Amino acid sequence: MPGALHIARLSWSPADLARSREAPLLQSITLDVARGEFVGLIGPNGSGKTSLLRCAFRYAKPQAGIVTLDETDLWRASPRWSAQHVAVLLQELPDDFGLSVEQVVWMGRTPHKRLLDVDTPEDAAIVAKALADVDMNAARNRAFATLSGGEKQRVLLARALAQQPDVLMLDEPTSFLDLHHQVELMRLIRSLKITTLATIHDLNLAAAYCDRVYVLADGEIVAHGTPADVLTVDLLARVFKVETLIDRHPVTHRPRITLVHPL
Ligand SMILES: Nc1ncnc2c1ncn2[C@@H]1O[C@H](COP(=O)(O)OP(=O)(O)OP(=O)(O)O)[C@@H](O)[C@H]1O
Ligand SMILES: [Mg+2]
Repeated sequence: MPGALHIARLSWSPADLARSREAPLLQSITLDVARGEFVGLIGPNGSGKTSLLRCAFRYAKPQAGIVTLDETDLWRASPRWSAQHVAVLLQELPDDFGLSVEQVVWMGRTPHKRLLDVDTPEDAAIVAKALADVDMNAARNRAFATLSGGEKQRVLLARALAQQPDVLMLDEPTSFLDLHHQVELMRLIRSLKITTLATIHDLNLAAAYCDRVYVLADGEIVAHGTPADVLTVDLLARVFKVETLIDRHPVTHRPRITLVHPL
């Protein structure tokens, strides 16, 4: 069941910088993802995208502000509650688990189990569907460690889907993927209608698939709205320091961005 994610007036700095007199690294961020909505978070390297996701999925505690999923304050909920409702796919790939592909995806079921619960046919069906959704069913018995970077990414997405979360938080989910699987992943996320917040560097992918985008620059949200409203030549020049041409994609009618040169 998708939920609505609400981040309000969130500020955060790394512990060692928190007491310094500089402005916080994330400054009073307010961001909403409606039920079933697919929202992209874009911004230059170091603008704070991963840090914001970390605050939202209960990894880095914000110094101020709130993160709620429907009515529940995620920072007051138990870690188990969070794991049952929020799934995360990170930029860094985890170290070798020493597990098979299928075992990695089964890990997604763990938050829904008590200590001595047995695996049910329903769990098995959820795992099989998640593997099929990311096109990794044929590799289910392989060692996770032997996969390519993109294949690992897809298996980790399957693990997140097997969690059956209300909210998906994805950090650069397409970064390791070939063109086919980039488009497939974006279409999959959109078709699942799970509430999703994803950082995305490829602005054309964000433009084509996200319902809305938020732009982060130096720890502040500087624009948000539909891709057509937000992705303008001026904004891209200001935030990304690139000169671009923007027209409409002939098929999707979403903005199509052509890089001209850096500014
Ligand atoms: N724990 C930390 N200690 C010190 N600095 C940190 C810490 N976490 C993040 N930073 C700094 O905060 C800034 C934002 O980092 P963050 O990883 O959120 O950026 P990002 O927008 O995800 O960038 P990228 O596009 O490269 O992934 C960076 O300058 C980073 O060095
Ligand atoms: Mg990042």
